Amino acid sequence: MADLLVLYYSAGGSVRRMAELVAEGIERVPGAAACLRTVPSMSSHEKSVPSGGPPYCELGDLEECAGLALGSPTRFGNMAAPLKAFWDGTGLLWQRGTLAGKPACVFTSTSTMHGGQETTLVSMMLPLLHHGMLIVGLPYTHAEMNTTRTGGTPYGASHFAGIGDDQPISDAERALCVAQGKRLAEIALKLAR
Ligand SMILES: Cc1cc2nc3c(=O)[nH]c(=O)nc-3n(C[C@H](O)[C@H](O)[C@H](O)COP(=O)(O)O)c2cc1C
Repeated sequence: MADLLVLYYSAGGSVRRMAELVAEGIERVPGAAACLRTVPSMSSHEKSVPSGGPPYCELGDLEECAGLALGSPTRFGNMAAPLKAFWDGTGLLWQRGTLAGKPACVFTSTSTMHGGQETTLVSMMLPLLHHGMLIVGLPYTHAEMNTTRTGGTPYGASHFAGIGDDQPISDAERALCVAQGKRLAEIALKLAR
């Protein structure tokens, strides 16, 4: 069984819902299992154990995974600081080359349509590339890539949540989140063979 790590940060729930869909796609692949993990916000009041939802990610989760899906809200066109802080603590794994050769994909949510989905997705790839991970995108062979009226990019799945963060994940966005998880798991299994 290949364990695929779905690591995300979400303050308002949009990225969390996307992470659950990516996990659903992973679980659709026989022989693959999804493992959901999050990171603490940067509040000094944060508890060491989350009050609900998935546990906080530990370095061991990265060591053990066969592949990674990384999700973050867009913050000023970039990855959210709590997730960046987590990656800044992975130097030991980088020295050891623990993640080198493992596949990875990225996903994001924004409140505005042109508020930096692509830049955020690319910013999330940078630490993964430094770790030697193999970036898995979303090809236009998925029909929804050509028909979506909101999120969905070749760099990774995305969601347009609206200025009030009140827009539901559209059918096309949902299909692309699931497709991304499925593709990641299929590639991880092929690499493991
Ligand atoms: C500090 C901050 C910066 C943000 N920067 C952007 C941005 O650059 N572009 C954008 O469209 N939305 C931006 N947003 C909105 C979030 O990306 C959006 O609400 C996202 O859907 C939140 O995901 P979540 O519900 O998983 O936390 C920002 C929000 C915050 C709090």
